Amino acid sequence: MDYRKEIARLKKEKNAVILAHYYQRPEIQDVADYVGDSLGLSQKAAETEADMIVFAGVHFMAETAKILNPDKKVVLPDLDAGCSLADSCPPEAFEPFVNDHPEHIVVTYINCSAAIKAMSDLVCTSSNALDIVNSIPEDIPIIFAPDRNLGKYIMQQTGRDMLLWDGSCVVHEAFSMDKLTSLHMEYPKAEIIAHPESETHILKTASYIGSTAGMINHVKQQPEKQYIVGTEAGILHQMRKEVPGTDLIPMPALENNTCACSECAYMKVNTLEKLYRCMLEETPEIEVEENLRKKALRPIERMLALS
Ligand code: 13P
Ligand code: SF4
Repeated sequence: MDYRKEIARLKKEKNAVILAHYYQRPEIQDVADYVGDSLGLSQKAAETEADMIVFAGVHFMAETAKILNPDKKVVLPDLDAGCSLADSCPPEAFEPFVNDHPEHIVVTYINCSAAIKAMSDLVCTSSNALDIVNSIPEDIPIIFAPDRNLGKYIMQQTGRDMLLWDGSCVVHEAFSMDKLTSLHMEYPKAEIIAHPESETHILKTASYIGSTAGMINHVKQQPEKQYIVGTEAGILHQMRKEVPGTDLIPMPALENNTCACSECAYMKVNTLEKLYRCMLEETPEIEVEENLRKKALRPIERMLALS
């Protein structure tokens, strides 16, 4: 079957929009109407007029789209597309933590479940995290969850002392400092760029730190340079499309990783065939209970208004 052709047909027939994250497989990125970072994807989800949102990403992203669009059908190619970072913050553990600090404002990274968002005052993504935290008056204490690495980076950049949840992303913690050092000795002119979900020792080596969209924009500024790209390897597909001649080297991951780079197994469970099937059968569909949805919507809307 020609999945690309069938997906294009179903898109028209069902007035569907395909939103894909940069970490999706190349063939999925190529059939999407929009490929972007978490902020761009939620902005697109908030403004779409399509009847069905086909979310080629992970569960928390599709769930955010549903929270923003209760009357639209939101489908995800594979319900197993989870996120280690979202899983590292279970609501039953987060609730007492928040209740123990009633004077704190709760800022959560968008990589968390609707239940966590519902306990939050503000949501942020890696592209607006510094602005969101800077928008909070200095005398108000902040809880930041779930990513401790992004949290440490924000603290260092803003000078704010935040109470951090101890969560992390397995993909961004898989980078090997030893391998990166050897690689940089091999390519001393390469500029290291990294995603803020990476650990502090990796971020210290980077001359640019930003979201996936931020990293692509950064490379576009100086395409003649060589780059070591410190995030999930799926980003290289879009980067190569936008800066065709640029030398892009994926940041190396630890020995036990099967590939030389770092790949998100959750993002990669989505395939073109599953994308086609979920459009055809309109399942698996994402549902969010209405009371929970309303509570989770408030911090997302605040984020969108501040972005
Ligand atoms: P951004 O695309 O917002 O930078 O997020 C990266 C990520 O890990 C998404 O799961
Ligand atoms: Fe979650 Fe990390 Fe995969 Fe992003 S790359 S979806 S944060 S596990």
